[in-house]
Amino acid sequence: MKNKNLHPIIAIDGYSSTGKSSYAKMLAKEFGWIHIDTGAMYRATTLYGIENFCENNIIDSVDLVSHLSDIHIDFKQNTETNSNDIYLNGKNVESRIRDFDISEQVSLVAKIPEVRKYLVKQQRNIGKNGGIVMDGRDIGTVVFPNADLKFFITASVEERAKRRFIDFKKLNKNISLQEVQENLIQRDNIDKNRSVSPLIQAPDAILIDNTNMNKEETYTKIQTIVKEKLGL
Ligand code: DC
Repeated sequence: MKNKNLHPIIAIDGYSSTGKSSYAKMLAKEFGWIHIDTGAMYRATTLYGIENFCENNIIDSVDLVSHLSDIHIDFKQNTETNSNDIYLNGKNVESRIRDFDISEQVSLVAKIPEVRKYLVKQQRNIGKNGGIVMDGRDIGTVVFPNADLKFFITASVEERAKRRFIDFKKLNKNISLQEVQENLIQRDNIDKNRSVSPLIQAPDAILIDNTNMNKEETYTKIQTIVKEKLGL
């Protein structure tokens, strides 16, 4: 019988709005691991840029890079929502970082090499002892190339835009389906084509296309693979 791996490092990478973070959170809850949403770290860094170094909707990347050490990011368990909320310099910004102004700028911030270096170092530190599910774009390729298990999640852009649009609607955010889809396409392009750690499937990652699968079906598939591969 296979040895159980109770403290694995699991990487879940893939496109925006494929549900990566939800599945990572569900796995962490079921198996008692920590969940880290690395996209939230890029979003919090973007928020810091917007609040401090932004003019005419443009974040000054030179200023942002020279103040990276002023950005302190923590995760704390929210007992009400059961999720791991992100804090920027001591303030809970879990909800604020999901706003559309952040989505519009985050890919530009995420392509700055110094920002990536700063956040990747923290991600490696948080995950070094295992028992972690980390979701993002470069977890299986750069942050933890030796992760115990890697997933790469994708879905058609139309389906992803629909899902994100429904999320915005629930939050009463006034934004059209077309704007959501355009933003997704733009972010995909920047994420895939940046020079440092572009969004790409690791050769040993398991590909899941959930265009025609609902949340339960996708999670069941991931859960089955996790149990089988880790002997749980
Ligand atoms: O998963 P998300 O949509 O919250 O991610 C926000 C942005 O951050 C996304 O456009 C790509 C970037 N990102 C990244 O470059 N590397 C990661 N590990 C996670 C996110």
